[in-house]
Amino acid sequence: DAAQSVMRTAIAYVPDRWVGTAGGDPLRTKHGLLGAPVSRLDGPDKVRGAARFAAEVTLPGMVYAALHYSRIARGRIASIDTAAAEAAPGVTLVMTHLNAPRMNKPPIMMTAPKAAAPSDLPVMQDAEIHWNGQPVALVLADTQEQADHAAALIEVTYEGAPAVTSFEVAKAHAHHPPTILGEPPELKIGDAEAALKGAAVSVDHVYRTPRHNHNAIELHACTVAWDGDALTVHDASQLVNATAWTLAQIFGVDEKQVRVTSPYVGGGFGGKCLWWHQILAAAASRLAGRPVRIVLSREGVFRMIGGRTVTEQRVALGAKADGTLAALIHTGVVAMTTHNNCPEQFTFPARHLYAADAIHLEQEVADMDMLANTFMRAPGEAVGTFALESALDELAEAMQLDPIELRRRIEPAKDPTSGHDFSSRHLLDAYAKGAEKFGWDKRAAQPGARREGEWLIGMGVATATYPYMRFPGCAARIRLGADGQAVVSIATHEMGMGTATVQTQHAAARLGLPLDRVRFDYGDTTLPEGTLAGGSNQTASNAGAIIAAHEALVTELLKLAGNDSPLAGLKVDEVEGFDGGLASIADPTRHESYASILARAQRDEVVVEAEGAMPLEGQKYSMHSTGAQFAEVRVNAVTGEVRVSRFLGSFDCGRILNAKTATSQFRGGIIMGLGLALTEETLFDERSGRIMNPSLAEYHVPVHMDVPEIDVIWTDAPDPHSPLGARGIGEIGITGVAAAVANAIYNATGKRIRDLPITLDKLM
Ligand code: MOS
Repeated sequence: DAAQSVMRTAIAYVPDRWVGTAGGDPLRTKHGLLGAPVSRLDGPDKVRGAARFAAEVTLPGMVYAALHYSRIARGRIASIDTAAAEAAPGVTLVMTHLNAPRMNKPPIMMTAPKAAAPSDLPVMQDAEIHWNGQPVALVLADTQEQADHAAALIEVTYEGAPAVTSFEVAKAHAHHPPTILGEPPELKIGDAEAALKGAAVSVDHVYRTPRHNHNAIELHACTVAWDGDALTVHDASQLVNATAWTLAQIFGVDEKQVRVTSPYVGGGFGGKCLWWHQILAAAASRLAGRPVRIVLSREGVFRMIGGRTVTEQRVALGAKADGTLAALIHTGVVAMTTHNNCPEQFTFPARHLYAADAIHLEQEVADMDMLANTFMRAPGEAVGTFALESALDELAEAMQLDPIELRRRIEPAKDPTSGHDFSSRHLLDAYAKGAEKFGWDKRAAQPGARREGEWLIGMGVATATYPYMRFPGCAARIRLGADGQAVVSIATHEMGMGTATVQTQHAAARLGLPLDRVRFDYGDTTLPEGTLAGGSNQTASNAGAIIAAHEALVTELLKLAGNDSPLAGLKVDEVEGFDGGLASIADPTRHESYASILARAQRDEVVVEAEGAMPLEGQKYSMHSTGAQFAEVRVNAVTGEVRVSRFLGSFDCGRILNAKTATSQFRGGIIMGLGLALTEETLFDERSGRIMNPSLAEYHVPVHMDVPEIDVIWTDAPDPHSPLGARGIGEIGITGVAAAVANAIYNATGKRIRDLPITLDKLM
C-alpha cells in the first residue's frame, strides 16, 4: 500500500547530478516543456472565480474581526473603554491586553530556521505602545460591518512617552547591526578613502530613498479555527511551514497541531509573512470559541504590515585614467526598530558587481519608534542599485564615457569581494543585446539634446542584480499511479508568479509524461515541507527537491521492474523518463511504460518522498542573476512631468523555464521599479510617527497610464551549478530600474535627482 511504498530519502550531501553538465542538468529537453510559454495552470480558476482565497473561506459559526489602532508612537494605554463596543449590535467579543490569552513572544525571522515573524514584539500582552498604529483592541462580530462599527466606538487614553520619530535624530545614534542577513555590516579591501583622494576622476554623493509600504492587491487576511489544541489557519502566505512553526511557539502547541493552507495569494512581495493579525485572530478565536476571519483594511495594512525602510546612502567612486576603478565606497544608514532585524542590505550589490582596487562597504542602522520594516521585493538591492548605478552614471558623465563602456571596463573576472568564481555571468552580453534591441546608439551623449515641443527626451541604463538562493529542507513527494498519472507535491507557494506551472512543466519533462498527466499540489503544510517564497529561491529549491524525489522514484521503479523488464540491469543514472515510462539513455529502444512496470509488480501506485541536496553550490561559487535595464523618458519642460516612454530589461538569470511566466515576473518587477523611481512614498509624520497616506488614493503605485510597453529579453545561458540551470527571477526585475529612470531623466534634462521618488517638483 501507499504507506509502505513511501520512501523518504534525505540526501545529506550533494550528489551534484546537475553540476558541470552542459545544460545545468542531465534532463534532456526533447519534450519541449522546459522554457515553453505555458499559460498559468491556476489561471482559469482565478478567471472563473473558482479560486478560494484566505478571506473567502467560510466556516460554520465564524465571526469577523476588526482592529483599533493606537494614535501615539510610544507610551502606555492609560485607560481603554470598550463598553460601547461590547454593547454594539452583533458583537461577540472585545479583546484587549486586559483579556487576551497569554502568548509567547513571536520568534523573529532568521533567529531560527522557521521563525516567521518580522518583529518579536508581543502584542496585546501589556499596556505598552511601541508604534503609532499598533493594534490595541480587536472586536469580533457577526458581520464585518458590525465589527468595524464597534471598533470605532472604543475610547483609549494614553500616557505618552518620548519617542524617536525623526530619522535625523535617530541617525545621530546610528550603530552597526550585529550582522546583515548573517553578513558583517562592514567590508573593507585596501584604503578606499585614500584611493578616492588620489583618483584621476571621482564622484561622491548622497542618495536617499523613502519608506515604502506593501500594497498587494489582496489585503492581508486569514480565516482561523481551533479544534482543541489544533489550529487551522487559512492564510495568504509566502511561508506556510514557518508560519505553522512560529504560531506553535507562540501558542505553546506542537508544530504538527498547526495547519496552514495558502493555495492562492493575491500578491506577495515579502509582506505576506506572519504579522500580528494571524496571531490576534488565533488568540481571539481561542477566547471566543468561534472560527474567526480577519481582513485588514487598506489602512490596516499601512498601520500594521511593515514595508521598506528609509535609507541614506553615500556612494563615492574614484576612477583611474583608463576608466577602471581605484575606489568604490558605498556606505550609509537605514531606519529600523529595535524589535526586528531586517536592515535593507543596500551595500550588497557592490560586493560582487564591479572590480575596484579598494572597496569600502558599510551600513549602520538608526533605531526609531515605528512599525517594524520587513523584506520588500529585492530588499537592499532595489534601493542600493539606485545609489550605486546613479553614481556610475555620474562617473561616466564626468569621464565623458558611454555608461555601458564604463561597465565593460570595470567588469570583474571573479567576485570582487569573496574572490570566488562566478558560477555563470553574462552581464556584458545582456548589456550588448539590450543596447542593440533598445537602440542605445540613438542616445545623445549631451544631456538636454533631444526635444520634441515641450518634451525633453532621454535614455538611461543601469545594472540589475539579485543573488541566487536555494534553501535547504525542501522536500517533494511524487505519486505515480498505474493509470500513468503523477501527483507531485511540495508545501510551496504560488502567488501568481508561475511556480506551480513551472514545476508541473519540470516534473512532466522529468517523468516523460504529457503536461496534463501531472498535477502539482502546493500551499498546505500537510504536504512535504517546502521553503518560504522569498529571496527568489523557490524555483531552484523546488527543482532540487523534485530531482531528488525523482531519483528516489526511479530507484523504486527499477526495483519493481526486476529482471523481466527491458530495463533489467540498468542503474538509476542510466535511465530517464521518456514517453510515459523509463528508457535507457544510451539506447531508448530499451523502454518500459510505467503502467507496465506497475502492472507486473501488481501495484496501483508508487509513492516516494525526498529532500533536495544541501545547497552547497552557493558556498563554492558567486551566484547572481544580473541584467541591464534600459529606460527612455520624456520630461515636460514646463510642468516637470515624467513619462517613461519605453523600457527594456535584458536579463542573465540562467535558463528560463517558462518564457511567458518569466516575462511577467520581469515586467512586474520593472513596474514596481517604476513606482520606486517616480511615485511610491510612504509619508511619515516625523512629529507623531503617524503614516499620513495609508490608502491607494495617496500612496501612488504605478497605474496603466504610468507603464509603457515593456520589452524583456534574456541570455538564456544555463547556470552549470544550479538545478535545471535556473537562477531566481522574482526580484531582480525591480533592481536597477530607479537608476535607469533617473539616469534617463538626467540625459533628458541635465538634472540629477538623488532623492526618490522623482516627483515633478524636484524637476522644476
Ligand atoms: Mo521577497 S522580499 O524575498 O518576498
